[in-house]
Amino acid sequence: MTDFKDIVQEYLAMNWLRPENAVCDTAAYRLIAPAIRQQGKSLEIGIGNGYNSFMLLGGRFTPDYDWFYNVKTDGFWDNADIYDTCDKSLTIRSFIATPPIKMVHTAIDHKQNLLDQAKQLDFVDNLICADASQLHIEGHFDLIFSNILYWLPDPFAVLNEAGKHLSDQGQIVTVFPNPSFYAHCRSYVDESPLWKRLNRGRADSMMWHLSLGEFQEKLAQRETGLKVIKAERYLAEQTLRIWDIGLRPLSPHLIKMAQALAPETRQEIKAEWCETCLPFVLEQLTMNLSAVLRRADTTSWCSKKPHSKFKREIPCNTLLSMRRSSRNGMNGPSNQDFPASTSLITSRRSSMQPCPTPW
Ligand SMILES: C[S@@+](CC[C@H](N)C(=O)[O-])C[C@H]1O[C@@H](n2cnc3c(N)ncnc32)[C@H](O)[C@@H]1O
Repeated sequence: MTDFKDIVQEYLAMNWLRPENAVCDTAAYRLIAPAIRQQGKSLEIGIGNGYNSFMLLGGRFTPDYDWFYNVKTDGFWDNADIYDTCDKSLTIRSFIATPPIKMVHTAIDHKQNLLDQAKQLDFVDNLICADASQLHIEGHFDLIFSNILYWLPDPFAVLNEAGKHLSDQGQIVTVFPNPSFYAHCRSYVDESPLWKRLNRGRADSMMWHLSLGEFQEKLAQRETGLKVIKAERYLAEQTLRIWDIGLRPLSPHLIKMAQALAPETRQEIKAEWCETCLPFVLEQLTMNLSAVLRRADTTSWCSKKPHSKFKREIPCNTLLSMRRSSRNGMNGPSNQDFPASTSLITSRRSSMQPCPTPW
């Protein structure tokens, strides 16, 4: 059983120059890790450099490694993807402390540089450079996972195709922003030059935001044969407001500085930096993870109870399940919309196995 504080610290160490990402990734971890750790053959659509899935599957890096080695900061303000690079002189596998608990069978992404990084993590059998919108896969999978479907012009066509490749007990796990995302992320809606600049074109790549009800409707309209069997909301308003800007505007400069440091100095500064950031990250997670905090085995890292002023904002305590069978008389997830992202699990069958919580 991994202590939750360890997970927060590991995500912070990986994202130290973007601590707001550590909050979002750790909040997502709680929901997604149990699902993607299930036994069986898996496919990931849009794996990127693989760091996220590697960690969701229990893989760990040494404390000196992080996202900011493989970055080319040129073109940041021209909306370049500064992470789309692969430094061939860097042996990423030498920074692996613990391998993941299972392999991913197949993973797709359309950026070869990112796949080249993922290859070094040695946890994916088949890495395929392809456009996810033109999904051509063979065989059947017990789990199909993607946190990028809302970036695609027609995610329901992709879901339809993916659904054909699910095994009998298989499930699809995916993430979609809710409409309330735009209420919290001003840079996505404010057309003024400053806010547009802060957004850096992210709004253009986010093609979809759907309430749970709208998502379910589209699944039905497109005759995918898929049904949502569980939906959980995460990411509190304040977390998203911070994430929308965070250290992003300063990140190219911070990354350049970090890259210019000698390894020992970099590690020393990083350790101090993470120590300073940890309480802020934990406070944000307190809002996002109240349900976890209330569990006796995870309160050790936070001696205080969640502050009462956060109680109304806490979104993550909404776990909704839906099964295909009407035998048990369960209703499907209702269409409450307050948290801004939804982790959706869809399946052709109703016989999902409960998955162990990884901490
Ligand atoms: C935000 S990243 C997420 C990557 C990874 N899943 C993670 O959690 O770190 C989005 C990824 O989607 C990939 N992507 C976007 N559009 C794609 C497409 N049409 N086909 C394949 N990959 C795509 C990008 O290359 C990028 O790696």
